[in-house]
Amino acid sequence: MRYLVTGAAGFIGSHLAEALQGAGHDVVGVDSLTDYYDPAEKERNAAALDLRRLDLAHDALDLDGVDGVFHLAGQPGARSFGPVFPLYLERNVLATQRVFEAAATAGVRVVFASSSSIYGDAERYPTPEDTPPLPRSPYAVTKLACEQLARAYRHDFGLDVVVVRYFTVYGPRQRPDMFLRRACDALRDGERFEIYGTGTQSRSFTYVADAVAATVAAMERAAGGSLYNVGGGEEASMLDAIALLEELSGRHLHVRHVDAALGDVARTKADVSRIARELGWAPETRLADGLSAMWSWASGTVAAA
Ligand code: UGA
Repeated sequence: MRYLVTGAAGFIGSHLAEALQGAGHDVVGVDSLTDYYDPAEKERNAAALDLRRLDLAHDALDLDGVDGVFHLAGQPGARSFGPVFPLYLERNVLATQRVFEAAATAGVRVVFASSSSIYGDAERYPTPEDTPPLPRSPYAVTKLACEQLARAYRHDFGLDVVVVRYFTVYGPRQRPDMFLRRACDALRDGERFEIYGTGTQSRSFTYVADAVAATVAAMERAAGGSLYNVGGGEEASMLDAIALLEELSGRHLHVRHVDAALGDVARTKADVSRIARELGWAPETRLADGLSAMWSWASGTVAAA
């Protein structure tokens, strides 16, 4: 198969593109290399890929000969109030509308990467897919808008689309603004680390290889129009995660508590029974094993730098 991966120089996109290549597929990666974080890091992520620089919000997307699109590109990060909002509108809502338009015209399936943040402080834990969305951050609002666009394009244009809601994905190459990455970098460099709030907020951390496997299953086996939670099996608080990292690194993290981040949710816990039942997917990586792989990578980047 020939697949197009948007956001292929990003954290999850680069792992997905490599896995698809490893499975024998042709992969075209596109990315606009925004400066949300250092584009040089993204270029390193994509070193093994055929990467084309393309701005989905403005440039034409050619899907000739493409069998499926994995749409992972976007402006990430739940801490998104304030003057950055136009970037979220452009890189999430507008870019996604243009991808859906092109895919509907070409008759090509899209797997769209959404986010657990659309649940906000959810009505139920574990949270199944039909829980009413209560997004708390502007970022989450734009991800939910993209999901609604997927429904509209499916309804009126027959778009073949599958939505996956990722729950705080982690592992080697995690974005440098995310909690576990910052904690690994601070441990490695002996620097002080800031916890937003008490640290008792918790997440269904999801190892990147598991997220990739779920995403590929969504392309290969899901019915059109389906929507799945993709979440790790072990919920952990930020304090739990730090304790694990300290244990496996043999180092002590110097932490300082600062104000909680605006738009931050207190808890995520995925109900993954739908994806288990329909696609036979379940998270396989224990948090301790995933963190160990991530720490090896993060501590090794110092030696390489
Ligand atoms: C993450 C991603 O950043 C989003 O792009 C993604 O959509 C979302 O997961 C998701 O599940 O869909 P988040 O869970 O907030 O969002 O992930 P982190 O940035 O790793 O933050 C986790 C927790 O640690 C949050 O409560 C945050 O406030 C806190 N944090 C983060 C700190 O205490 N210190 C930091 O330096 C960074």
